[in-house]
Amino acid sequence: MVKINENYLKLKAGYLFPEIARRVNAFAAANPDAKIIRLGIGDVTEPLPKACRDAMIKAVEDMGQRDLFKGYGPEQGYAWLREKIAQFDFQARGCDVDPSEIFISDGSKCDTGNILDILGHDNTIAVTDPVYPVYVDTNVMAGHTGEANDRGEYAGLVYIPITADNDFTAAIPTEKVDLIYLCFPNNPTGSTATKEQLQAWVDYARANGSLILFDAAYEAFITDPAIPHSIYEIPGARECAIEFRSFSKNAGFTGTRCALTVVPKSLVFKASDGSDVQLWQLWNRRQSTKFNGVSYIVQRGAEAVYSEEGQGEVKALISFYLENAKIIREKLTAAGLSVYGGVNAPYVWVKTPSGLTSWEFFDKLLQEVNVVGTPGSGFGAAGEGYFRISAFNSRENVEEAMKRITENLTI
Ligand code: MLT
Repeated sequence: MVKINENYLKLKAGYLFPEIARRVNAFAAANPDAKIIRLGIGDVTEPLPKACRDAMIKAVEDMGQRDLFKGYGPEQGYAWLREKIAQFDFQARGCDVDPSEIFISDGSKCDTGNILDILGHDNTIAVTDPVYPVYVDTNVMAGHTGEANDRGEYAGLVYIPITADNDFTAAIPTEKVDLIYLCFPNNPTGSTATKEQLQAWVDYARANGSLILFDAAYEAFITDPAIPHSIYEIPGARECAIEFRSFSKNAGFTGTRCALTVVPKSLVFKASDGSDVQLWQLWNRRQSTKFNGVSYIVQRGAEAVYSEEGQGEVKALISFYLENAKIIREKLTAAGLSVYGGVNAPYVWVKTPSGLTSWEFFDKLLQEVNVVGTPGSGFGAAGEGYFRISAFNSRENVEEAMKRITENLTI
């Protein structure tokens, strides 16, 4: 009889966002007149940049012409896109990243999960707490953890709290860990990491032979010029870090799907027989075997992000969402709540009032003012007592949600 992957049975409840959707749908069914505003999942609302749409329309036309038609593309992504990314996103910031080290994919969520294919099963794994749940759940699925305790913490993982008590700084662990997930600007807290903090992580990783998985999906929201956008701005990172990036949050590709992962060729670790192995080779092999690349049409759309018109439109989108974040911060602060993040990130992290748990505050917001956010405890035990509000929505919805909270919520 077939055996199932019983590691899945260790997973707590549903994946966070489907679980929220389930609760919201149940509320909507029971309250059909409620005008629900969703500031939960970080999904963009504003239309795709025209530069991207035009490029995709042209690419569709290409597909209708025999001489321009494309079948399977390179599994790693088209060279013209990888070259633009290397130039604009990395070399322009002084990062030594070659186009051949960039792998185009259909999402950072997929890549942060898939990367486990090329890593062993005996690594000690550190995550921040709270954390983007994908890092934890994919390790649970792969059998890298034990069972969860009643706080939702899995045995075998090292949790690094990032809370208001430590100014949302991920402290270097005292024990030795092999694999470290870092996400800055941070999902969910909206905090950032300074060059010095990231340098400390790179130094730690190099001293311990560890690998940093650096999720930079929100780098476009950095407004402070002192904050690094890429881990490769940090000397030594090419020897110890993989970086994930996405077109989802800057160019609104959450539904269009395009992302990238940088695996430097200088990332070399030892196999059990003592030989040196380039992670690039393993990831290249993995992608060539399990992935057929992102569609030509979508890659042309992503390429247009780097056109003059595209750059202007992306900048406008980022400013739009950051202005939403500012409104959220200001209104919630005025309502007497403690708020964090939302300056270099599209997420505002709120301390729940009156000692309410994260889910109690979720229910209160939904029931009293029909506004949806994300309970902090869904991101980890240290997220308990916090709540995430996403700035990804129309101005009208953000203003209306803040009006309802400041005027009608009983805090
Ligand atoms: C979030 O709300 O945390 C994001 O939508 C997660 C993601 O990008 O998958």
